[in-house]
Amino acid sequence: MIDLTGKTAVVTGGSRGIGRASALRLAEAGASVIICDRSDFTAGDDACSAEIRRAGGDAESRELDVADSAQVDRVFGEIAAERGIDILVNNAGVLFAGTTTETTDEVWRQQFAVNVDGTFFCTRAVLRAMIEAGKGGKIVNVASISGLRANPGFAAYCASKAALVNFTRQAGIDYASVGINVNGVAPGFVETDLTALYSPEIRGALEGQTPNGKWATSEQIADSVLFLASPLSDHICGEILTVDGGWMVGTPVVVQSA
Ligand SMILES: NC(=O)c1ccc[n+]([C@@H]2O[C@H](COP(=O)([O-])OP(=O)(O)OC[C@H]3O[C@@H](n4cnc5c(N)ncnc54)[C@H](O)[C@@H]3O)[C@@H](O)[C@H]2O)c1
Repeated sequence: MIDLTGKTAVVTGGSRGIGRASALRLAEAGASVIICDRSDFTAGDDACSAEIRRAGGDAESRELDVADSAQVDRVFGEIAAERGIDILVNNAGVLFAGTTTETTDEVWRQQFAVNVDGTFFCTRAVLRAMIEAGKGGKIVNVASISGLRANPGFAAYCASKAALVNFTRQAGIDYASVGINVNGVAPGFVETDLTALYSPEIRGALEGQTPNGKWATSEQIADSVLFLASPLSDHICGEILTVDGGWMVGTPVVVQSA
C-alpha cells in the first residue's frame, strides 16, 4: 500500500488524459495535488481537482503554460513557499504529426517548447525548491516509446521525446546524491485525446503489432507514475519504465508457412 499522506504533488497537464489519471492516483494515495494546466479554468479551478475534493481529497488547480519560463518560476515559487513540493509529474505534452520535410519551423519549435523546454523549466524550478527544502523528492517525466525508437511520420515528436528521455537520465544521476529521484515513464499507445488523430485502421494495425494486443488506459500509465512517485522507487535513478504491452521488447512478426 502506497501512502503519500502529507506530501504535495504537482502534476502538469493534469486536467485530462494521463495527467488526470495520475492526479487521481496520487490523491487516492493521500497526496495533496496541484494541477497545473494551460486549459481554460472556470473560477480558477478545473474538473479534475473538483473531482478529487468531492472524493474527500485535497486538490487545487493553477493555470500554467509550462513553455513560459517566467510563469513556471513564479507559479512553482509560490507553491514552494506556500506548502513545499515533494513530487512533480512532468506530464504536459503535445503531439504534432509529420515527417521531417513536412515539419515547419513553427511546428518544430512548438513541439520542443512544450515537451522539452517545459519539462526543463518545471524540473529546474522544482529541483531548486527541493534542494533548498533538503527533504529529497520525486520527479516523474512522462516520456514515450517514441523517445526510445523512431515512429514513422512523427519527426518532431520523436526528437522531443528522445531529448526528454536523456534529460531524465541526466537529472536522474545529477541529483541522486541529494535524495531526489528523477525517472520517467514511457507509455506506448494510450486511449486519450492526444491519440484521437489515429484512424480506426491505423489503430487496429498498431494493436496488432503490440504483443498483448491492446492500447493502455490512462490509469495503467498512472499506476507506474504512482510507483515512481512513491518510496518504492527510492533506489531507482534516471530510469525509463516502458508501459507499452511489450512493444519495445518486440513486435509480433507474422510468418507464413509454405
Ligand atoms: N496518449 C498516448 O498514447 C501517449 C503515449 C506516449 C506518451 N504520451 C505522453 O503523455 C503525456 C500526456 O498525454 P495525453 O495522451 O494524456 O494527452 P492529452 O492531450 O489528453 O493531455 C495533455 C495535457 O497537457 C496539457 N498541456 C499541453 N500543453 C501544455 C502547456 N504548454 N502547459 C501546460 N499544460 C499543457 C493539456 O492542456 C492537457 O491537459 C504527454 O506528454 C504525451 O506526450 C501519451
